[in-house]
Formats: sequence, C-alpha cells, structure tokens
Amino acid sequence: MNSFQIHNPTKLIFGKGCLSSIPSELSAYGTRVLLLYGGGSIIRNGLYYQVIDQLKELNASIVEFGGVEPNPRLTTVYRGIQLIKEYKLDIILAVGGGSVIDCAKAIAAGSLYEGDVWDIVIGKVTPVTALPIGTVLTLAATGSEMNGNSVITNWEKNCKRYFSSIHVYPKFSILDPEWTFSVPRDQTVYGIVDIMSHVFEQYFHAAESAPLQERIGEAILRTVMETAPMLVNDLNNYDYRATMLLNGTHALNGLLAMGERTDWATHEIEQAVSAIYDIPHGGGLAILFPNWMEHVATTKPEKIAQLGVRVFNLAKEGKSDTQLAGETIARLRTFWTSIGAPASLSDYDIDDKEIDLMVESAMAAPTIGSYVPLMADDVRAILRKSL
Ligand code: NZQ
Repeated sequence: MNSFQIHNPTKLIFGKGCLSSIPSELSAYGTRVLLLYGGGSIIRNGLYYQVIDQLKELNASIVEFGGVEPNPRLTTVYRGIQLIKEYKLDIILAVGGGSVIDCAKAIAAGSLYEGDVWDIVIGKVTPVTALPIGTVLTLAATGSEMNGNSVITNWEKNCKRYFSSIHVYPKFSILDPEWTFSVPRDQTVYGIVDIMSHVFEQYFHAAESAPLQERIGEAILRTVMETAPMLVNDLNNYDYRATMLLNGTHALNGLLAMGERTDWATHEIEQAVSAIYDIPHGGGLAILFPNWMEHVATTKPEKIAQLGVRVFNLAKEGKSDTQLAGETIARLRTFWTSIGAPASLSDYDIDDKEIDLMVESAMAAPTIGSYVPLMADDVRAILRKSL
C-alpha cells in the first residue's frame, strides 16, 4: 500500500425531509445564491418549488440558471461564471445529478480565476480557491456530491476532460432518496453501471496490496448487485433508492482509492466516445468495461478472477485465472443486460467512422490506466470490440 493522505470536507445530510437543512447550511456562506439546475426534471417533480421555499426562509437573493445539459458543456460554465460576476453571488446551490454538480464546480473555480476556466479543466492551471458550493442530489451515480471532481465537455473541440481540486468539494450535500423516485428506469440503470464502474476503476489498481480497500469495494458491488434488480422493478421504493444513493456516494469519495494508483482508462475512453456522440456516461461504460476487462485479461487476469470468486460467487476449483476471468466477464455482461444496460456501441448507432478521433481524444497522455497501461493501439482494439 502506498502512503496517502485523505481529507474529505463535505458534510453529508441524508434522509427524508432533509431539504429543511438548506437555510442553516447556506447561511454560513452568504445569501446571494446562484440556483443551478438541469433541463427541468426538478420542476416536473416539484423539488424546485420546495427548494425555493427553503431559500425564501433564508431571505436569499436568488439568481436562477437552469438548462445545464447532461455531459455539461464549457459554454454553460462560461455563462454561469458571467452570472456570478454580474450579480456578485456568494454561493452556488446545485440541484440535480452529476452534470449539474460538475458544472457548479467548474463555475465555482472559474469565477475566482482571471483566465479561461478551460485551463483549469485540462489541468494547465491548478485552482487555488473557489466559490462555495452546496448540492441537492437527485440521481445516484457519479459521487460528485462528495468528491472534488468535475467533468466538462468542450463541444467545439470534441474534448471531454476532468479536473480535481480540494477547493470544489461541496460544503454540504443534501440527499433525500424520495427526490430520486422520479429518475426514469434507463437513467437509474446508467447510474447503477456508473457506481459499479467506479468500484472497478479503483479495484483494478497498481498498488502491491490494498486488501481493505478491495473488500470495501466488493461490499459495495455486492450491495449494488443485490439491490439493482429489485430497484429497477420498484422505482418508488425508499429503501432501494436510499441504498443506491449511499453506494453511489461511497463508490467515489476517496475511500476506495486510499494508498492505490487507480486505473480510470475505461472512463477516459468513455469520455472520448461521449465527447463525440454525446451518449449517457453510464451507457458508454456498460459497453466498454467488459471489453476493457477482456483486453487486459490477456496479460493480467488475476484481479478479474478474484472479482469473480468474491463478488460473482464463482467456484475456483481446478480453474485457471484466465478461465475465471472469462467467466467473470460473462457474468458481468449478463447482469448488466438483465437490468437493461446497452452492450454495444451500435446500440447508439455508433460505427467505426470516428474511431481515430476517439482514440486521439482518449489519449490525453502517451499511456492511460495503471492496472495495465494502455497505448493508442490498445484503446483502438477495445473500441473495435465494442462496436
Ligand atoms: O437535466 P434534468 O432535467 O435534471 O434531467 C436529468 C438528465 O436528463 C435526469 N435526472 C436527474 N435527476 C432526476 C432526473 N430525472 C428525473 N428525476 C430526477 N430526480 O437524468 C439525466 C442525467 O442526469 P446527469 O446529471 O447527466 O447524470 P449523472 O448524474 O449520471 O451525471 C453524468 C455526468 O457526470 C460525469 C459524467 O461524465 C457526466 O458528464 N461524471 C462525473 C464524475 C464525478 N464528478 O466524479 C464521475 C463520473 O464517472 C462521471 O464521469
């Protein structure tokens, strides 16, 4: 295990009715609020009106900015920064899924930086400060509610990149499972795939040993796989929604990555696909992850075999790691298909026309990933398998 420090400053407020914490939590940071949200789901399910009521209790001055798109775009971040500066706002309240929260983080960092926020997103500049953010999460998936990551798409350049900073961790995140009841079945499935993929990205690491982190990851995977089939058939079940929310948060809040060098190649390949085709992030991961596993299993099957034995209950006797890895990947495909996840890029009408562009976009460095570092030809092979 490598040496590490961990510091997660986000206060998590979880459970029925916890929206009522908004005034007291916000008041520590000011009353001039940018209320940021997505394409209207919070208006349709009524959450918007309840948030406004809470803000009125605080006597807050509210500037509203709706319309953040899934896979949030740089142009939207620019507009948010403009509003912060024009109205001299104190804090951003992001109400939505990972896209709204990620967008809030880029606005928060960009509004206190004199240059172009894209320099922060691509890692050319490290933020030294940011406006405070609070969140009301509406979708179990990204973990953005309790981490310092933000993923932003520069559509003009077909480039989707992320940055991480301690300064953009939400000050508080409010998670009431009831506000996730309205997430449709397909988005619920994408969220489940994203949560499992976050565990995989950290389970497949480059540290000599990280037994506790792996066991925590396996617990999350087993809990998600137990809950998912029940949840997709009972979308208004409080306990299933609550379980999924908590899994989503813990799958990417720093806990699983302690002392490891984690992988993330599959996320980088998916970002390259969605930067060109604008597909749902979880849908892309469901297609790519089994193919990434198959590719790396040819050189390093051990950890995939371990996953199969410990999470998919495979019997070990007499089987090689390569055989076990093959069975694990088959089980994972079957599970994701059974809950309704896509299995091939052709499900999104994606063919090989832009394969070179996707490879180029994925290769932010000469190699990507840590468990098995991938070169451009490996990425091309994984994309071809995924067509
Ligand atoms: O935009 P609205 O109208 O709100 O609708 C959204 C959107 O259409 C809808 N939705 C959200 N909550 C809902 C709801 N519909 C009904 N009821 C509700 N309660 O769901 C759709 C997808 O929302 P989005 O926020 O895009 O989904 P998600 O949370 O999966 O976020 C995806 C983005 O996060 C990035 C992805 O790359 C992608 O851009 N990621 C961020 C990470 C991070 N910050 O750590 C890690 C992730 O792996 C991921 O890369």
